[in-house]
Amino acid sequence: MKNFEFYNPTRIIFGEGTIARLRDQIPQDATVLLCYGGGSIKNNGVYDQVLTTLSSWEMIEFGGIEANPDYDTLMKAILLGREKGVDFILAVGGGSVIDGAKLVAAGIPYTAGEVWDIVTQDVKVILGEALPLGTVLTLPATGTEMNGNSVISRRATEEKLAWVSEAAFPVFSILDPTTTYTLPAKQVRNGIVDAYVHVMEQYATYPVDARIQDRQAEGILLTLQEIGEKALEVPPDYDTRANFMWAATNALNKLICQGVPEDWATHDIGHELTAFYGLDHAETLAVVMPHLLWHQREKKADKLVQYAQRVWGLTGEGEPLIREALDNMIDFFNRIGMPTKLTDYQIDPDQAAARIQARFASRGSRMGEHKAITSDLVAEILRMSR
Ligand code: NZQ
Ligand code: ZN
Repeated sequence: MKNFEFYNPTRIIFGEGTIARLRDQIPQDATVLLCYGGGSIKNNGVYDQVLTTLSSWEMIEFGGIEANPDYDTLMKAILLGREKGVDFILAVGGGSVIDGAKLVAAGIPYTAGEVWDIVTQDVKVILGEALPLGTVLTLPATGTEMNGNSVISRRATEEKLAWVSEAAFPVFSILDPTTTYTLPAKQVRNGIVDAYVHVMEQYATYPVDARIQDRQAEGILLTLQEIGEKALEVPPDYDTRANFMWAATNALNKLICQGVPEDWATHDIGHELTAFYGLDHAETLAVVMPHLLWHQREKKADKLVQYAQRVWGLTGEGEPLIREALDNMIDFFNRIGMPTKLTDYQIDPDQAAARIQARFASRGSRMGEHKAITSDLVAEILRMSR
């Protein structure tokens, strides 16, 4: 196992009826900027619950943070926050709202330069420099409710970049599984696949005898496989949604990655597919990961065999065993309604390969746990997605 230092300061308040706990989590004298998305929280009663709970707090609202939150939108929130003297950020929604609110929390006090420099990581935000952020999560998927990551899109330049900071951890996150009851099937499917791929990015590398991390990762994968189809059922089942929500948080709260190598090439490539073609985040992951793992099967052989045996209960050996496990993954994604080929979206794999290869080549990007996936290999992987 590699050396590691684990830090996670986010308080999780989990379960039905916990939105009322906002009252003891936000200082009474705070001026709160309430950030939300396109209106789902107004249709499902979450907005009303938040406003009723915080009726005696000074609240400024900023709605309209879009899926794949846009830098220009967030700059409007930052200017509003500065103007109103906001000192606490409350994000209510899915990953996009929370990721966007993280930039708002860091951007309001940052006046020394362009806020975009935070996203490119030319400027590092350190602990204590961002405003405190609390969240009410309504879409299990990204893990952003319990991590220090934020992914920001800039449509004007077709960019989508992730920034990471200890200052971006929420101080608390409220996870009430009943808030997920209004999710469309597509978003449930997206959440399951995103969480599944998060685990694989931290697991399907090479062994370092990290038994706790491996078994925790396998436990999350098995849970997602078990509940995947049930999570899509209507009416929703509370325990299924609770397990889904907690699985997604654990998939990316930075516990299973401690002391082990990580890949993240599927995410790096996926972000480009969203930037260029507008696919949902999870859709991009499903059209890349099965092909990337097969392409990298020699370097990842030991962990892929372990995946086949422990997560799918398969016997056999070598490449046929790995192929069978990856076919099972594809079958699982397809069963919950998630396509696994670029051609399923009428995207030409050759064109996508050329565009994304050029971008990675210009950045000199090298990806994967060995930093061995060059822009040329990314193109090979994308051409397999047909
Ligand atoms: O905008 P509203 O009206 O709220 O609707 C949203 C949005 O249209 C809707 N929704 C959310 N909760 C709902 C609901 N609809 C009905 N009922 C509810 N309870 O769902 C739609 C999608 O929301 P979004 O927040 O975009 O989805 P998700 O949580 O999947 O977040 C995706 C973003 O997170 C980034 C992605 O790249 C993408 O930008 N990621 C962030 C990560 C992180 N911070 O650690 C890691 C991930 O790998 C990912 O990259
Ligand atoms: Zn993801």
